[in-house]
Amino acid sequence: MVRFQDKKALVTGASGGIGSAIARMLLAEGARVAAADRDVADINATAHLPGDLLDPAYADDLPNAAHDALGGLDIIINNAGVITRGAVTETSDDDWRLSLGVNVEAPFRICRAAIPILAAGAGGAIVNTASCWGLRPGPDHALYCMTKAALASLTQCMGMDHAHQGIRINAVCPNEVDTPMLRTGFIKRGFDPDTALAELGQTVPVGRVASAGDIAEVVLFLASDAARYMCGALVEVNGGKPVS
Ligand SMILES: NC(=O)c1ccc[n+]([C@@H]2O[C@H](COP(=O)([O-])OP(=O)(O)OC[C@H]3O[C@@H](n4cnc5c(N)ncnc54)[C@H](O)[C@@H]3O)[C@@H](O)[C@H]2O)c1
Repeated sequence: MVRFQDKKALVTGASGGIGSAIARMLLAEGARVAAADRDVADINATAHLPGDLLDPAYADDLPNAAHDALGGLDIIINNAGVITRGAVTETSDDDWRLSLGVNVEAPFRICRAAIPILAAGAGGAIVNTASCWGLRPGPDHALYCMTKAALASLTQCMGMDHAHQGIRINAVCPNEVDTPMLRTGFIKRGFDPDTALAELGQTVPVGRVASAGDIAEVVLFLASDAARYMCGALVEVNGGKPVS
């Protein structure tokens, strides 16, 4: 199936686990893809837009840069994210700036710049990567949960506010996914990531932790015309596992 022939898509976090799967699958379905991340040298994409999302000027300009590089813009995937672990009392000012900057401020800036570009064209779709943990908080990740809740709320608000412009804005909300984000967390805490992932998989009703492709499939659905009546939806992709 080729759902995205000649569609132009910007993907942030394109070098990461979920982002690289999204970029690969969009390309395979005919899209032209602008890959944004700190280092995109090894990513197969139509255009490479490296930079730091903590730089407001970079985030503000990304939609315009993608539009210029691709010859138009139809789809934005705000997927980059960082996770900080711990209760509020263990959270530093640097953690605050990093998490709010990457998980909330950058998607806000990108959406604010992208919406007029999409509206001036044929409309389009924005898909944000939030998290189940932004819908129902889990323990020891206060800042992460709060940033994902903020992104989920922003998605619901923008989904309502911009539907009349032909722009659909939705979010995917994964539970645990087998990516460098999850693996690095295990390594930092002294666990073997393969063993820890296998054990974690036993806590998921479908019997395994999600792959990046499991999440990317839902992102592509939300970006596609099949989701043409979805605006402001927060779609949980959790293998049947609640946040606990
Ligand atoms: N892995 C999980 O269990 C899980 C669960 C729920 C939600 N998510 C969300 O999914 C999204 C993708 O995460 P992932 O699991 O693929 O992790 P990942 O660490 O593999 O990918 C995240 C990407 O974001 C990029 N990024 C981070 N800070 C950046 C910055 N300042 N400037 C530019 N790029 C930056 C990183 O370089 C990285 O390539 C994130 O928003 C994450 O919060 C992940």
